[in-house]
Amino acid sequence: MESEPIRVVVTGAAGQIAYSLLYMIAKGDVFGSEQPLILHLLDIPPMMGVLEGVVMELSDCALPLLRSVVPTDDPVVAFKDVAAAFLVGAMPRKQGMERKDLLSANVKIFKVQGEALDKHAKKDVKVLVVGNPANTNALICSRYAPSIPKENFTAMTRLDQNRAQAQIAAKVNVPVASVSNVIIWGNHSSTQFPDASHGTVHMAGKDIPARDAVGDDVWLRTAFVETVQKRGAAVINARKMSSAMSAAKAAGDHMRDWFNGTPPGKFVSMGVISDGSYGAPKDVVFSFPVSIKNGKWEIVQGLVTDDFAKELLDVTGKELLEERAEAIAVIEA
Ligand code: NAD
Ligand code: LMR
Repeated sequence: MESEPIRVVVTGAAGQIAYSLLYMIAKGDVFGSEQPLILHLLDIPPMMGVLEGVVMELSDCALPLLRSVVPTDDPVVAFKDVAAAFLVGAMPRKQGMERKDLLSANVKIFKVQGEALDKHAKKDVKVLVVGNPANTNALICSRYAPSIPKENFTAMTRLDQNRAQAQIAAKVNVPVASVSNVIIWGNHSSTQFPDASHGTVHMAGKDIPARDAVGDDVWLRTAFVETVQKRGAAVINARKMSSAMSAAKAAGDHMRDWFNGTPPGKFVSMGVISDGSYGAPKDVVFSFPVSIKNGKWEIVQGLVTDDFAKELLDVTGKELLEERAEAIAVIEA
């Protein structure tokens, strides 16, 4: 028997990330090849003409799973009965900016959307915030949606994880799928800590520690960390626009794993509400390694962190506390 369609909202639907993401979702890459969908597309009133073109293209893709499309500039319509929400709509940074420079422009969007999710979405909606600064926007969104569990609000650091795994695969000269369990700790910003010390590389039929496969601890603590921390800026410098194709792929990966789970012994990184694990500040959205079962994530416990890691975890935690204070000030002003 065919499944009932689920409603999925993508905000910023006329923008560049959505242009790649909508196709991935609608063809079944995220919710599976048996799951019919109704896509809700939210953007702001001046973008309704562009959005009309996106709707035409979705129709012209002739995708069997896509049952209907609801384009709108009204958050009430957009969030009605949705089971999954990709909150992409927000201003991207330009050359020379840090992601937190977007806070005052973007954070209010996430208050409004939190309120609309609270009133109109399914109570078990899974929310992925992509719009920057993603961690703090996710925190604010959750605060304004008190009837939805805090665990249902996450921020995207999967792009950083994918970047980190690709760097290691290139260094060791293996396919990227051979690299697992590389962690992104903290904020989706240049203070994040990409950590390969619990990672593995599948070589010659077995998983070996990434550190042994790389064989260069200095590189893992310097060039590797800096490349991943600054990759978003490098893409902006080259493209004059922020990453879109890779961001859409990461958003699909994040939501697919959240719905489907992670294999035994494997974990992924997600910005989730912090319970203080690993000395992170509580009540900020902090990226941790998580394992996922039956649609619920759990922070992976018991990983040993050395002094180098503790120092970097502290820096990114402090930045998240500063962002939280600034976001609250902007909203209450
Ligand atoms: P874009 O400018 O191409 O598109 C953004 C879209 O959002 C526009 O169509 C705009 O009209 C719309 N929008 C603005 N305010 C809105 C609102 N209140 N409701 C609904 N839609 C609204 O930008 P993009 O390249 O698609 O990037 C979107 C966001 O994602 C940016 O903040 C960017 O920095 C962020 N981003 C995050 C990651 C990550 O890893 N977390 C990666 C890449 C980009
Ligand atoms: C990225 O990581 O590419 C995005 O967050 C865009 C940016 O501003 O860096």
